[in-house]
Amino acid sequence: MRVLLTGGAGYIGSHTALALLERGHEVIVLDDFSNSHIEAVRRIELVAGTDIPVITVDLSDREATLRKVDCDFDAAVHLAGLKSVVESVAQPNRYYRVNLNATLVLLELLRERSVSNLVFSSSATVYGPPVNSPISEDHPVGAGLTNPYGWSKFMSEQIIRDTQRIRPDLAATLLRYFNPIGAHTSGNIGEDPTGVPTNLMPVIAQVASGRREKLSVFGGTYPTPDGTGVRDYIDVMDLAEGHVAALERNTAGVRSYNLGSGVGVSVLELVRTFEEQSERRIAYAIEGPRLGDLAEVVADPSRAADELGWRAKRTLGASCRDYWNWQVRNPYGYVSEHVSR
Ligand code: WQD
Repeated sequence: MRVLLTGGAGYIGSHTALALLERGHEVIVLDDFSNSHIEAVRRIELVAGTDIPVITVDLSDREATLRKVDCDFDAAVHLAGLKSVVESVAQPNRYYRVNLNATLVLLELLRERSVSNLVFSSSATVYGPPVNSPISEDHPVGAGLTNPYGWSKFMSEQIIRDTQRIRPDLAATLLRYFNPIGAHTSGNIGEDPTGVPTNLMPVIAQVASGRREKLSVFGGTYPTPDGTGVRDYIDVMDLAEGHVAALERNTAGVRSYNLGSGVGVSVLELVRTFEEQSERRIAYAIEGPRLGDLAEVVADPSRAADELGWRAKRTLGASCRDYWNWQVRNPYGYVSEHVSR
């Protein structure tokens, strides 16, 4: 299939582009490069050995998008959007305007082009504070959300559901990510956070590389095995392959799937695993809990296994090894000149 990949130069997007190409699909990257780098596309071309058409546009800009997307495509994978929980609290208007308009514009484009296959990048944040764990897709959504980022994902899911009601041919798959980590084994693409990262993995990697003195562990007295927060870390290439499986599902209607490993890992367990893989010590100090944080967020990924034939394959150690490999080869992300051949 010829796939329009919005946000295709980002962390998840670049890995999804590779997984699509490896599966024999064609990819068109649509990105405004506000939080990504054109070098990521060049790296994907290097790894995949193929040229990738790029449409540079802000998807939330309706006029520009409808004008600039002048190519045919069979399906869309929609990842373009703002994604920082912390930033969304400080900039609610921007997050709702960008994330909701991006979804609305894309749905209009799909209708105009009679494209009926859509995979949407949603998030475990739509579940709010878990009533039970592990979390299945039947868990309530939209209750107790604490940030505009999470609300924008929940609202986008609702927009897609309401659109499908008037477009019965629309096959929409909502992928609820848990915590993506890792990098492609080539070390040529990876997470390249702009500004000061707030997610655990990039912070650990910055401590390991000496860019940051120590890790602040947010909370040490949670009701978890070692008192630190437990999350479901999913390798980014497993996540990318989940998008390919969702795309090939292509069944009319709307269906959500958790993309997680189903295994809970604490902050200190991740630190120890990263230390083993990088052979670097991660200095840390246990501090008070972060506002809005939850003790445990772990997926029940059985629906994706049963219906998509997808499950996480890569180990936590492999994800840490590959993330560190990316970090060592690209200490300052895509701006560095080093490209491994
Ligand atoms: C993980 C754990 C922290 C930083 C993320 C994204 C959200 C969504 C879900 C995609 C927690 C602890 C962190 C640090 C720490 N992803 N931590 N010190 O909060 O689960 O949410 O995944 O939609 O967008 O934000 O991820 O990496 O911030 O935190 O102790 O410096 O690490 O308390 O237990 P989180 P995170």
